[in-house]
Amino acid sequence: MTRIEIPRPDDWHLHLRDGAVMRAVLPDTSRHFGRALVMPNLDPPVVTGKDAAHYRDRILAALPDGADFTPLMTLYLTEETDPDDVVAAHADGVIAAVKLYPAGATTNSARGVRDINNVGHTLEAMAKSGVPLCIHGEVADAHTDIFDREKVFIDRILRPLKDRLPELRVTLEHVTTAEGVAFVEDAPGPIAGTITAHHLMLTRNDLLAGGIRPHYYCLPILKRERDRRALLAVATDASSRFFLGTDSAPHLDGGKLAPCGCAGCYTAPVALPYLAQLFETCGKLDALAAFVSTKGAAHYGLPVNPTNVTLMRDQPVTFAASLATEDGPITIFDPGFTTDWAVE
Ligand code: NCD
Ligand code: ZN
Repeated sequence: MTRIEIPRPDDWHLHLRDGAVMRAVLPDTSRHFGRALVMPNLDPPVVTGKDAAHYRDRILAALPDGADFTPLMTLYLTEETDPDDVVAAHADGVIAAVKLYPAGATTNSARGVRDINNVGHTLEAMAKSGVPLCIHGEVADAHTDIFDREKVFIDRILRPLKDRLPELRVTLEHVTTAEGVAFVEDAPGPIAGTITAHHLMLTRNDLLAGGIRPHYYCLPILKRERDRRALLAVATDASSRFFLGTDSAPHLDGGKLAPCGCAGCYTAPVALPYLAQLFETCGKLDALAAFVSTKGAAHYGLPVNPTNVTLMRDQPVTFAASLATEDGPITIFDPGFTTDWAVE
């Protein structure tokens, strides 16, 4: 049996939802992760500092007894956002970041940003006050091919934004392409990228070849093998600007298995064991702690978690296929191969 001990990991991109689903998924995240950056795309979204404080209180109230877990809150940027509210919420420690969703890009993004020029004053205030900006980096216009949306966003929106506000602290979320990797690695800082576990394991063939698999449908959509390899190269490089944001995005099976199914993979319970498998296969187990435990904290100016978790490799592990909630079942992500790693 092999064992490794790493600082307790963090998840820098997580959907916890609310109500019954939140109560059901919180134990899965709080078992493995010390902190998570909680996405604000509820319906209605978390728009003001007050919304974020209330949402944080609901999360804390729903945590299992004795959980060693701190939710880090985000605000959903709208064209009506008040810059003073954002800066105050950050200064008061209510929020850790602001999330930019291009309107129409993903789940519950209708109230997101239609024109980046309409949020210029908020972004300037954030750059001045050191409030981090997390970006769903895809254009949402109907004319852009879904596989090109990340690349077009970088060229059309992100590069000009970084040129105009170089001091703005940016996280490009769930990077999925070789072009996204190259942009984040080369851009003048401060900038980082998150990568999901599922984009490190799967390509669009897994989603579409030989039958359509709705539980692999997520946004940004899975890409090509060359993209997956580019992601894997930087994820397993301890000196890169990339760290884990699972983008674990639970949807009830009824919403996934539908003629127009929702985007999102529920990966929280399995992300760490599968990442250990992946890093080991690459001969890069020694870079796992940087990806899951230390680089994200550094980007957000926080200390590494003081406690450790132990990962053990023994024999193939079987996970539950589904999580029961009061609202119905949620399918747990399964990449179609096994891992020999478990979290103690
Ligand atoms: C996320 C969700 O369901 O909230 N879905 C997804 O496919 N990743 C939204 C998002 O992060 O794009
Ligand atoms: Zn997400």
